[in-house]
Amino acid sequence: KEKIKVGIMGFGVVGTGTYKVLTENSEMVKNQTGAEIVVEKVFVRDRHKRRAVEIPESLLTTNPEDIIDNPEIDIAVELMGGQEPAYSYMMRALDNGKHVVTANKELMAKKGRSILEKADSAGVGLGFEASVCGGIPIIRAFKRSLCTDKVERIMGIVNGTTNYILTKMAQECSSYEDALKEAQARGYAEADPTADVEGYDAAYKMAILASIGFHSKVDINMVRREGISKVGKRDIECGKELGWTIKLLGIAEETEGGLEVKVSPVMLPMEHPLASVNGVNNAVFVNSEAVGELMFYGPGAGQMATGNSVASDIMEIARQIASENKMLPNCSCFADKVFAEECS
Ligand code: NDP
Ligand code: HSE
Repeated sequence: KEKIKVGIMGFGVVGTGTYKVLTENSEMVKNQTGAEIVVEKVFVRDRHKRRAVEIPESLLTTNPEDIIDNPEIDIAVELMGGQEPAYSYMMRALDNGKHVVTANKELMAKKGRSILEKADSAGVGLGFEASVCGGIPIIRAFKRSLCTDKVERIMGIVNGTTNYILTKMAQECSSYEDALKEAQARGYAEADPTADVEGYDAAYKMAILASIGFHSKVDINMVRREGISKVGKRDIECGKELGWTIKLLGIAEETEGGLEVKVSPVMLPMEHPLASVNGVNNAVFVNSEAVGELMFYGPGAGQMATGNSVASDIMEIARQIASENKMLPNCSCFADKVFAEECS
């Protein structure tokens, strides 16, 4: 196949970044893929809305069927966020034999199993690299590299917005409200930032990482969660006086009672490797039997970094299509062994 056609659903922060990476680096992508990746349609709510990037008007559509039911489209990319209609669109695209790429951590944490099962039974690719830690290739690291190792603990700063707020409060004495507004203006926060500040977003990401890292069925409802909305200036100042810093940490580890996954604000000594992860950056610290200690670091949110993760998933699938390889199952183990039953 000489042209692989992509339909993007949602053209906000991540949709724009994905489009930019694919179009600006198209020659490089073509050289590595063996085929041209063409954005054929972009589904939006309002065709006349001012966009952050120039895009031919003919690409824009307000009808999702132009992507999910369009036989021309090879890869449907879901970048709208939220549960519905994103879930229905993704499932219909898979039913129609399309490969799917998404950045939607909420959907992957709550419905990942049914999505992966459908993709695997249809023999199509399902990429979700951008769903965890924005620009850091962490899903790939777990699926491709740590798959032969026994993971003992995953500890990470997995939400960019809250790390940005905590850093601004600690380093610039910003108020919580001002720092949150800035994070929103920079495109880091979720449409409803409650998901960030109350730890839901981090809980979704930890459920995904723990599912893959521990080859376990992690039900999002079993993730203990506390956000940063109760962290005040005084807490931050007290921590500083003692040489500590406050971070919103996700931790997944085997305990005597089984796999435990939690998200909460934690006081870290300044010498800890995660203590110097500031601003929108994320980091994931892994302890495993064979490798020992590993740390992955980089931007956890934002247009271009996240757009690159989405584009890399698209390219990986496009390579498979171009080489006419049989699509491999989307998890190193089968979906029913890693993702929990559907939950809401
Ligand atoms: P935005 O709010 O910037 O963009 C969402 C886009 O989807 C908008 O273009 C919006 O349309 C469109 N959209 C939403 N609902 C519908 C609908 N029902 N019908 C049609 N279009 C719809 O979100 P982001 O780009 O920030 O996030 C997208 C996804 O990526 C989310 O799942 C998010 O969690 C995830 N993500 C975000 C990151 C980030 O840095 N922002 C990083 C990693 C993942 P309209 O323009 O009309 O509002
Ligand atoms: N709102 C998310 C964050 C986007 O701030 O980390 C990246 O998943």
